[in-house]
Amino acid sequence: MAKRKVILDVDTGSDDAVALCAAVLSPDIELVAACSVWGNQPIENTTDNTLRLFEALGVDIPVYRGCDTAMTKYLCKNYVELDAWRLRPKAMRGGKEISMHSAHLPLAPTNRKAEDMPAACFYVDYLRKSKEKVTLIPVGPLTNVGLALRIAPDIVDKIEEIVIMGGGSKITNHDPWSESNIFHDPEAAQIIAECGARVVWVPLDATHRAVITLDDCKRFRDIGTFAANFCASQCEQRIINHDAGQPLDIPHAAAVHDALCVAYVIDPTVLTDLRHCHVEIGLDGYGSGQTIVDQRAYPLERNGWFAFDGDRFKFVDILCDCFQRDKSTAQVLEEA
Ligand code: RIB
Ligand code: CA
Repeated sequence: MAKRKVILDVDTGSDDAVALCAAVLSPDIELVAACSVWGNQPIENTTDNTLRLFEALGVDIPVYRGCDTAMTKYLCKNYVELDAWRLRPKAMRGGKEISMHSAHLPLAPTNRKAEDMPAACFYVDYLRKSKEKVTLIPVGPLTNVGLALRIAPDIVDKIEEIVIMGGGSKITNHDPWSESNIFHDPEAAQIIAECGARVVWVPLDATHRAVITLDDCKRFRDIGTFAANFCASQCEQRIINHDAGQPLDIPHAAAVHDALCVAYVIDPTVLTDLRHCHVEIGLDGYGSGQTIVDQRAYPLERNGWFAFDGDRFKFVDILCDCFQRDKSTAQVLEEA
């Protein structure tokens, strides 16, 4: 079967890094490029982390640097944000505080550079020229893809599917009403929701179900490749953070959100409750960045597919299959 052409849009980031490894190594995916966006870290770091990871994996995939902030949200000086994060207990390892996403991935620095063309321009240029349809997997704030669709709505004809990590129906993380990726650029999310492409939402409802446990990390380490060890270290870091401040139903487990989107592209049955719904993004004040999912018997026009559940065992099997294909000799560095 022909590989699916994919572009990942990442704010790398621990779970973005696992997603990138899976996409690079999957026999079902041809990763044609990665676009960086700000989010988990500033744009300099998310771009550099992506370049470092491609160097470590020994692949020559171009990286296009994307936006360093939202399209419009932060122009408004009084947008509503409840600073809930500071209330969380700190995550500690070896007496040191660790965050969900390190500033730099624990990989050797690289001299590689991002391409000159900005990410949004790359989408327009590449998709217009492409003879095949391409799947987009944006797993950070949606600014680059939203902007590209705003500049050139015709590119929608070249999009196979947009698989978004973002949103939450019953579960949120940034605020009582929003998930981080959608919170950071709700206008971009709304542009995508209404663009007319097939849009699949992989929200917290699914990613908090298809979790990765410490036992799964042990299984990764037993594979022994660079990708398996590196992803185990990123997942373990996430587990410490979840246990400290964002406990899940299963103890000693982490949501590895972004990688679930890639797993879905490899095997759609990893999302087990995917419903055709009307999805709308809150754009104002309290509720800005909320994913509003119309679940009434007679809803507004269905414009997307929203995942409510995921199969954690299948997810781990898919990742293991990818990681065992890695031939890289790179090393995972000690965290600074
Ligand atoms: O809310 C989870 C999402 O926010 C993930 O994509 C994570 O990497 C961050 O971008
Ligand atoms: Ca991300």
